Amino acid sequence: MMLLDFRSDTVTRPSPAMRRAMAEAEVGDDVYREDPTVNRLEALAAEMLGFERAVYMPSGTMTNQVAVLVHTRRGQEVILTEGAHVYEYEPGAMASLAGVSPRFVSAPYGAPDPQEVRRAIHDSPHQAPTGLIALENTHNSAGGTVVPLKTQRAVQEVARAAGLPVHLDGARIFNAAVALGAGVHEVAAGFDTVSVCLSKGLGAPVGSLLLGPAGLEGEMRRYRKMLGGGMRQAGVLAAAGLIALTEGPKTLARDHARARELAAGLARLGLEVDLKSVQTNMVFARMEDAPGFAARLREAGVLINALGPGRVRFVTHRDLPAGAVDTALERVARVLG
Ligand SMILES: Cc1ncc(COP(=O)(O)O)c(C=O)c1O
Repeated sequence: MMLLDFRSDTVTRPSPAMRRAMAEAEVGDDVYREDPTVNRLEALAAEMLGFERAVYMPSGTMTNQVAVLVHTRRGQEVILTEGAHVYEYEPGAMASLAGVSPRFVSAPYGAPDPQEVRRAIHDSPHQAPTGLIALENTHNSAGGTVVPLKTQRAVQEVARAAGLPVHLDGARIFNAAVALGAGVHEVAAGFDTVSVCLSKGLGAPVGSLLLGPAGLEGEMRRYRKMLGGGMRQAGVLAAAGLIALTEGPKTLARDHARARELAAGLARLGLEVDLKSVQTNMVFARMEDAPGFAARLREAGVLINALGPGRVRFVTHRDLPAGAVDTALERVARVLG
């Protein structure tokens, strides 16, 4: 029986073209800025996303945490949307590395009310001062949902009026762009810094980029080195990243269509799926015993993640074989009896 892996879009393997590019990559010491392949990747990403600079890092966690470090001082608060990856799934890094606390605002389908963001800003001697506002697009824990450009603009205006920087966790910004029918530079516009992951739906084996202004580049590189992200001949990885950046976005619309098909099928089988939240490549279903269901489904040949006691997540991606959705639905039906 062929296992179908719907746990995450991070499970994709490098394509044959990526393997070839990796084997043939021109390299140098990237900490000395002498790796031509990393330099090309950073220049291309900066151009595509409309930023002055991009810095290549090993992971999305590192790009997010470097962003927090460059924008904040110890003791400050970071305003985040509820469930934000930056705090919930980055093992306490914000608190332990930057010494800052999260202040969550509610965010239905990942989109906060800009006025609630404004009210969450603190600037009094009795409270932790706000140092940064961050959005996430697409918003993972809200369902892989897309934050409307209008919401992003309104939050950026609130931040600007208060003199605060705004970061975007755009781990899946290309999924957001496809779902919005917008250019990726439009989704990235107006933020001080943006994180982009190459190793999710775009298919690279490793790597993320932090986009920002030239004035922050030195700090971004200093914190990357401090956190252990000075990777030397990283061109062997960046070579795959270049293919992910140029070719990867082309298959995302298919991933989204497959997620919609899967969601409709799961709903027909009686699972509690909020179809309105199925906007990109993720499908969440609520149930009583999520870990038990995930374990039974694994026995039947479908891998998924239980996120907490009452929710499972299916993610579609480029490495799922033809017919994967139909086969998965048959296996789910069998498990449900
Ligand atoms: C929204 C979001 N941000 C950041 C990350 C972190 O990426 P990495 O796993 O490369 O550290 C993830 C990973 O799943 C994510 O979903």
